[in-house]
Amino acid sequence: SRPAAIGPSVLAADMSRLMEESLDVERQGADYIHLDVMDGHFVPNLTFGAPVIKGLRKHTKALLDAHLMVSHPAQWVDDMAAAGVDRFTFHVEATDKVAELIAAVKAKGMGVGVALKPATPVEEVFPYCDDLDLVLIMTVEPGFGGQSFMADQMSKVKELRRRYPGLDIEVDGGLADKTIEEAARAGANLIVCGSYIFKGNKAERINLLKQAVEKY
Ligand code: DX5
Ligand code: ZN
Repeated sequence: SRPAAIGPSVLAADMSRLMEESLDVERQGADYIHLDVMDGHFVPNLTFGAPVIKGLRKHTKALLDAHLMVSHPAQWVDDMAAAGVDRFTFHVEATDKVAELIAAVKAKGMGVGVALKPATPVEEVFPYCDDLDLVLIMTVEPGFGGQSFMADQMSKVKELRRRYPGLDIEVDGGLADKTIEEAARAGANLIVCGSYIFKGNKAERINLLKQAVEKY
């Protein structure tokens, strides 16, 4: 299917050292950096927004993959583009103007993804798949790192992979040595991983995840 890529989620890093932590995972083999943007409204947690990403952008050429867990994603398209975000992924649950938002993100020159919360049926994204760079299947309830992988989400990944062999499918939440095989076998190729990478030997763990995905 599609090439494997591993995107450490800096939510699990020491965020007072965002730049150092990002450069470190890059050196240890990360393919991209996953940035969890939370507004305290769409999810019950707050992180950072475009100003912080703009600061980070000055220090790295890495692909910056922003995951917008916000209630008004359309409001942040211009700022995220100006901050240097490469890929803008928003939640399908957050807007009733999905097609318009996809077009707006592309018009700013960013890659575009649509994310689904665990309770959202995969069918909701089918009408847009031909226009998307990626679909993000959440494997935890969005809002916090360090939660358990929801294996029941793999039926969504399998169905997407069956219908769209050329689509990038990202999974996010609870990915680790014990869960990567199942996600890879289902057809996920973009792997977001926070606590597992940051709470151990980063190079070894990034490599383990990558190898597992490359088998499929
Ligand atoms: C959860 C975030 C994830 C989170 C994953 O809302 O979208 O990116 O950081 O963390 P782990 O890998 O620890 O489950
Ligand atoms: Zn995320």
